[in-house]
Amino acid sequence: MTDADLPAATDQQDVVIRLVAGHRVFDAERAAVHALRGASLAVRRGEFVAVMGPSGSGKSTLLNVIAGLERLDDGAVTLAGASLSELSEAALARLRRRHVGMVFQFFHLLDAMTVTENVLLAARLSGLPRRAATRRAHDLLDVLGLLERAEAMPAMLSGGERQRLAIARALANEPTVLLADEPTGALDSAGAAEILELFRRLHARGQTILLVTHDRQVAAGAQRIVLLRDGQLDGQAPGSPSGSALHAGLGDGRLDRLASPGTGTAAARPARPA
Ligand SMILES: Nc1ncnc2c1ncn2[C@@H]1O[C@H](COP(=O)(O)OP(=O)(O)OP(=O)(O)O)[C@@H](O)[C@H]1O
Ligand SMILES: [Mg+2]
Repeated sequence: MTDADLPAATDQQDVVIRLVAGHRVFDAERAAVHALRGASLAVRRGEFVAVMGPSGSGKSTLLNVIAGLERLDDGAVTLAGASLSELSEAALARLRRRHVGMVFQFFHLLDAMTVTENVLLAARLSGLPRRAATRRAHDLLDVLGLLERAEAMPAMLSGGERQRLAIARALANEPTVLLADEPTGALDSAGAAEILELFRRLHARGQTILLVTHDRQVAAGAQRIVLLRDGQLDGQAPGSPSGSALHAGLGDGRLDRLASPGTGTAAARPARPA
């Protein structure tokens, strides 16, 4: 990686995720597994980037490293301007609470809590006082079309509803970046289209999204696709309009309420200037 690979100086402040020559090696029983071998990636504020690559190519490792859940063995990662290798575990946890929202394939909900309690807890953990947290939880459930299910338990929800709830939780701290690892992997094609449409609307409101997926159609809904192969990333230049043709054709109407501005939640924030 040379300086020429980095964005121009004027762009630097706009880059919210920067991975430079990242290496991650796991010690397997017989041989070391080199999950990332010199992977570099820059994501600008407000971008929607999809990562594709074969199973075992290091996609989840990449997201975990960016989220500060795993440390690099070599290279550097910065998130929202902070160099993660310089932070203690406690400081990393604080950074995550403030800047990161994560969504996973199998939802990771708190099954003993209602829909509302799931989001409320996430909002409280982000540091909001009870009243403000209650308001934010309500707004998020409204924006994500879950108000009618507010008192339901997660087990009573459909797969698509569960993933929308997981996304509401991930947005409760108004994260700088939303990281999603195979968020449509457990859904049927209708459910996947619904979640993709939701991501696209969040992106239209300025949310930065980094999404890992096996599904070409889901990836095509992003602004830019990068491929992870042999632990390295290659992709199109930032801002290239891949997938824009698909943008025009999607939208099943179920999430139309997202089009109407909410009341100050992350999801309802107006798009920040590019
Ligand atoms: N904790 C770990 N210990 C040992 N090896 C690991 C660990 N986590 C990941 N690996 C290995 O690192 C490589 C990359 O794993 P990773 O989970 O990042 O792949 P992935 O691209 O997300 O795969 P999938 O598409 O199947 O989810 C794999 O070979 C995996 O077996
Ligand atoms: Mg994975």
